[in-house]
Amino acid sequence: MTTALITGASSGLGAEFARQLAAEGHDLVLVARHRERLEAAARGLSAEHGVEVEVVDVDLTDPEGLAFAVARAKDPSRPVGILVNNAGHGLLHDFHDNTLLDEVNHLRLHVEAAMSLCHAALPGMLARGEGRIINVASVAAYLPRGTYAAAKAWLLTFSRWANVHYRRSGVHVTALCPGLTRTEFHSRMGMETRYLPAWIWLRADRVVRDGLRDNLAGKAVSVPSVLYKATVAASKVLPDRLLGGPARRARST
Ligand SMILES: NC(=O)c1ccc[n+]([C@@H]2O[C@H](COP(=O)([O-])OP(=O)(O)OC[C@H]3O[C@@H](n4cnc5c(N)ncnc54)[C@H](OP(=O)(O)O)[C@@H]3O)[C@@H](O)[C@H]2O)c1
Repeated sequence: MTTALITGASSGLGAEFARQLAAEGHDLVLVARHRERLEAAARGLSAEHGVEVEVVDVDLTDPEGLAFAVARAKDPSRPVGILVNNAGHGLLHDFHDNTLLDEVNHLRLHVEAAMSLCHAALPGMLARGEGRIINVASVAAYLPRGTYAAAKAWLLTFSRWANVHYRRSGVHVTALCPGLTRTEFHSRMGMETRYLPAWIWLRADRVVRDGLRDNLAGKAVSVPSVLYKATVAASKVLPDRLLGGPARRARST
């Protein structure tokens, strides 16, 4: 068993990664901004599974916060064997209606933080000849849907390349590309979801189970569910004006 560092571990998919990896016996480093939520999760998971859980309460869009998390990911005395880059949020408005700072922080969280943590953890993984990285992207990575989709496309392309490049050295890199999943994501960004049918939603436990399984198997991309696999297939043939979708409603899936 190894240590897993999970960003965005205070809710949603990140909290579910923490539960499933703790149940497998891995020690954890939980990263997010809300210390109380992380500490409550840490207490529960240590008590239930007997694993060690560290809490790193930082804002990953803040250079000092990111530097702190990077230093932890690099620490050779407490090696990170599994890295889950999961922290993220959506932007409700169109690109031109957001402040540039909102856009820059969004890009920092999805891309700079994930890239920095991969860069920090990889050398140790390569030296040990084993490691696992899951970058939580989105099915939106395949769709022309604003800067959210563009940031997720970075994670997807990087993971596809990195998995080919590092797999032969024992490091598996997977982009996990969920569709709509029930978490706090949409309420946090103020998105109305009542009109969406129940069948369109995935459960976080299923998304995480699929992602962990596909990463273990060495797959570069994991797309949970037939529905969203079909969405990816459709993205390769349908025109952008259809894939851009009913923008305000579905923009940040
Ligand atoms: N839910 C979906 O439908 C869906 C679909 C496709 C992809 N995704 C992706 O899945 C990932 C997880 O999202 P989720 O659905 O689980 O949403 P969520 O429940 O809102 O969780 C987001 C997590 O990110 C953390 N976070 C946000 N901003 C942060 C910051 N500046 N620094 C550090 N941590 C930060 C939050 O914790 P704190 O507030 O405590 O910092 C929280 O733990 C995201 O990358 C999202 O883009 C979600």
